Amino acid sequence: MTQGSPPRLVRCGDTFELLVDDEPFLMLGAQVHNSSGSGAMLSTAWDQLRQLNANTLEVPIYWSELEPTEGHFDFEQVDAVLAGARSHGFRVVLLWFGTWKNGTMDYVPAWIKSDPKRFPRMLDSAGSPVRVLSPHEDANLEADRNALSALVAHLRDVDSEHTVIMLQIQNEPGSLFVARDHSEKAERLFSEPVPESLVEKLELSAGTWSEVFGREADEAFAAYAVATYVDDLARTARAIWPLPTLVNVWLKERKSWARPGEQYPSGGPTSNMLDLWKAAAPNVDVLAPDIYVRDWVGFRSVCESYTRPDNPLVVPETFSGIEGARYSFYALGDYDAVGYAPFGFNRRDGETDLLEQHTELAKNFAGFAQLAPTLLELRRIPSEGKRRVQAAVEEDLLSTVLLSFEGWDVLVQFGRVTQSYGGEFASGTRERTGRALVLQTGSNEFYVLGFDASVNFRSSTRDETSQFLRVEEGSFDNGAWRPSRPLNGDQVFFGLRFGRDGAIRRAELIAGAGGGKHP
Ligand code: DGJ
Repeated sequence: MTQGSPPRLVRCGDTFELLVDDEPFLMLGAQVHNSSGSGAMLSTAWDQLRQLNANTLEVPIYWSELEPTEGHFDFEQVDAVLAGARSHGFRVVLLWFGTWKNGTMDYVPAWIKSDPKRFPRMLDSAGSPVRVLSPHEDANLEADRNALSALVAHLRDVDSEHTVIMLQIQNEPGSLFVARDHSEKAERLFSEPVPESLVEKLELSAGTWSEVFGREADEAFAAYAVATYVDDLARTARAIWPLPTLVNVWLKERKSWARPGEQYPSGGPTSNMLDLWKAAAPNVDVLAPDIYVRDWVGFRSVCESYTRPDNPLVVPETFSGIEGARYSFYALGDYDAVGYAPFGFNRRDGETDLLEQHTELAKNFAGFAQLAPTLLELRRIPSEGKRRVQAAVEEDLLSTVLLSFEGWDVLVQFGRVTQSYGGEFASGTRERTGRALVLQTGSNEFYVLGFDASVNFRSSTRDETSQFLRVEEGSFDNGAWRPSRPLNGDQVFFGLRFGRDGAIRRAELIAGAGGGKHP
């Protein structure tokens, strides 16, 4: 039964939104381990996904299994994914493990691996083949195009319910082992001028790859070949069934020497190749970073690079544990992430309990799911200055965060708060579990999702005095606020206090009321 238009990504306000059945959708996802996308491992994943409070499963579709014999397609895995998702009430992002998986060709069918003459591999500078298909060879592209087309045509035929909401084309494309192909054809192309359409779009001067890109020539040459190859697949797929498309990225950030083809696959949409990829792959909607950068400064800077007027932030893979839980607040609160998903959430041994490392993220997802309609609504309003949604996150030696909203300063502190010279200082929590998402829904109204945090408000425009008009604890039910109790007295005298399990609070304030301390 068709519910509405196929899922799509649209620009809204200053950002993007994903529409599923014509309604804005916040993808709270999780990805299975590489070899858990079928059989018993898949059946136990649904329960764990529910315990994580996620709404979307990211699951690979393996070319090797989809087309074990050339031209013969086996949709058993796809159908099992769709049936499981529907019966458990989840959406799905399919990950096409095709020509590339982590900068290698590991998931191509055996009939391709064993016929390197027909399906040429990349050659290193000494002329030896490496474990990556060449992006310059039509036979490779045609084979991938046939398989992906069959997959997408099948979706068109069996998924009028829009269970699948996005399609990831390839997995971390590019080449490990070599910065670019050194085959005869590649050498010839490399010595020719950079295609005119590319230099024009990038507003560069014409010349050969070395002249135009200098030290990055090999990588830019590889990126153009991979981007145009993937774009061909994205265009073909969309013509059959118009799903939003994404390409995930093995990042170069924080990778020791950060050399293409060594520490990360050469030719993928790494931060230094984003403009080129955007120019060469217009049919790919999202260039999506797999963020395994463990420090918060690095994590935020990756979010910053991939949040652009031509690219919404989707984090299709990241780590779990308390850092992953904290950093999800940055992605959703400060960078308008359309989707966020930790990698490898399911137990390898088929047990059904959620792994302990995901418990904090599960609490977040429960809160994000409640806030989603309000959060997405706020994103839709073009900003006239200050962001209406902001995150405050505890980090090592960072236990006080001052946020600035229209008319209000919001002070978020983590751990025990004491007075000392220069104000109120917070000790930080033992396990760095403090985090808060602050939403300004009216000139004097806020909702806060907080964990291990205290939150205080102070007017930034009047005589700086302010008072709570009303504070409520409660929950959202399909976007409607349902207060469970008013909070006053000891519960708000020192501001909004949030414990380890987290809560959502609504605060209505009055500014310039005179007298007393700010709330
Ligand atoms: C990133 C890849 O995209 C995943 O498929 C998986 O291999 C993880 N790395 C493992 O950390």
